Amino acid sequence: MNYEKIFLEKLEELKAQSLYRYIPKLDVGADKYIKVNGKRCLNLSSNNYLGLSKNQSLIEASKEAVSMFGCSSSASRIVTGNYSIYDELEHKVAQFKGYERCLIFGCGYVANLSVISAICDRDWVILSDKLNHASIIDGIRLSNAKYFRYKHNDMDHLEKLLREHSSKKKLIVTDTVFSMDGDIAELQDIVYLSQKYGAMVMVDEAHATGIFGKGRGVVHELGLK
Ligand SMILES: Cc1ncc(COP(=O)(O)O)c(C=O)c1O
Repeated sequence: MNYEKIFLEKLEELKAQSLYRYIPKLDVGADKYIKVNGKRCLNLSSNNYLGLSKNQSLIEASKEAVSMFGCSSSASRIVTGNYSIYDELEHKVAQFKGYERCLIFGCGYVANLSVISAICDRDWVILSDKLNHASIIDGIRLSNAKYFRYKHNDMDHLEKLLREHSSKKKLIVTDTVFSMDGDIAELQDIVYLSQKYGAMVMVDEAHATGIFGKGRGVVHELGLK
């Protein structure tokens, strides 16, 4: 087997399909204006729409935390990498969101992988909006659950799938604000259908937290739980 040849061919294939990814060279990133090859550009491709990357009180708090606790937790949280400030943060976020408990992850990808694979296994059916973020799809794959995509925001299609799997344990999962199109899930209808067919609902509020429902997200904005 000539693995080098296999990989080079694959790379050429990706380039021919315009699917080859380049990592942009940035002189200065994480701001409203970024510098690319010395040129000042307005950044329309980041998730920093609340401007938190340059929030002065967050910068000061981060510096203080690093000087108190160092720049590594030294191990995973379930070993010896836990700190009281994590517990404090989770308590505050849970209070803010109006829930009993909260668990903070390092990024959204890991949150979706962890939550879905912790809740569901091969005995579950997961119904997922076609435009959900890729991390949700990876979480579903990791869980080994049976997986069906419903057409984007199509409640008739969702209901059909719920009816077909009425005897199974079911999870409906959706972005609340969709990451690519920026539209919003039909959450009230999803909750109604979940109650009608005995399903759980999981929402990804990555693009709604800080924006809707006084910062608490679309679930809060619509008065849902
Ligand atoms: C809806 C949604 N969920 C999860 C993620 C993954 O988040 P992260 O980039 O923090 O891993 C993203 C990323 O943009 C997203 O848009």
